[in-house]
Parts: sequence; structure tokens; C-alpha cells
Amino acid sequence: MEYEREFVMIKPNSVRRGIIGEIITRLEKRELKITALKLKNITENEAEELYKEHEGKAFYEELIDFIKSGPVILMIVEGPRAIDMVRHIIGVADPLKSSPGSIRGEYGLTVGKNIVHASDSPVSAERELKIFFNEEEIIEYKLNTQKDL
Ligand code: TYD
Ligand code: MG
Repeated sequence: MEYEREFVMIKPNSVRRGIIGEIITRLEKRELKITALKLKNITENEAEELYKEHEGKAFYEELIDFIKSGPVILMIVEGPRAIDMVRHIIGVADPLKSSPGSIRGEYGLTVGKNIVHASDSPVSAERELKIFFNEEEIIEYKLNTQKDL
């Protein structure tokens, strides 16, 4: 089983709604290990770097403005197949199409403000987490779970 690290960002509307804890709990329940975490107002440059694959699309400008509209939670979570696991837990981009048990399917209203971001592959996870974290900020420790894998 691939052990992976995944980049997760809790979007500004979720911070304002006070559902940071509920989102993190969903990840912890699946025994994902948090190895970095911070609250930050992200800069224009960081926002553009994060979403550069979407530059030129109709929703791009609105997405950049929204993501800078208030603080976000930036996290790295690790575990077996962490990338697919996190993407599964958060649901698909459009909350209307996300399954009801997923984070977007439970809290999301619109695709533009869909609660949380997570990288879609090991390559994008490494690229995106490096925008926000130095290796020294990523903390290694043993999680007291994952016993029955
Ligand atoms: P995308 O990479 O398709 O989804 P995901 O976040 O699941 O990887 O899109 C990136 C973000 O762009 C998405 O989370 C919200 C925004 N977006 C829109 O605002 N409108 C759209 O029609 C799409 C497809 C995305
Ligand atoms: Mg994406």
C-alpha cells in the first residue's frame, strides 16, 4: 500500500462558518496523520501558484478572490493511499454531485465555495504543499492507530 502525503486547505468560508474542527475530525476518523497545520491569509502569489492549472478558465478570477477573502487552514496529512482517501472523504467538486456522507456533500452549497481543497495526485500534492511549507515545518511522529492494516 502506498504511504502518501496529501495537501489539504480548508477554504475561507469554512473557517468563517466555524467548521474547521468538523472537517479535521473527518480526516482523523480515517486515521490520517496531520504532520503540518497552520492558519494563514494567503497572498495573491500563493493563490495564483496553487490554482495555476485553472488560469484562463471562466471561474479563475472569482476563485482567486474568494480564496484570499479570509484566512484558510493549510494542512499536510499522511497515510496509506492518503490522496485517494482524502479526495474520497471530501467528495467531488460540485457539492450537488458529492455523496451525502462526504464533506462537500454535507457542508457544500456551490462549486465555487466547496468547503475544502485537496491535491489530486502525488505530484500535485508535493508541488502544492511546497508552496506553503518548508520541510522543517513537517513534523514526524507516530500515530497510535493504523494497527489493523
Ligand atoms: P477542480 O480542480 O475541478 O476541483 P477539485 O477542487 O475537486 O480538485 O476545481 C478547482 C476549484 O475551482 C474547485 O474546487 C472550485 C473551483 N471551480 C469553480 O469555481 N467552478 C467550476 O466550474 C469548477 C470546475 C471549479
Ligand atoms: Mg483540482
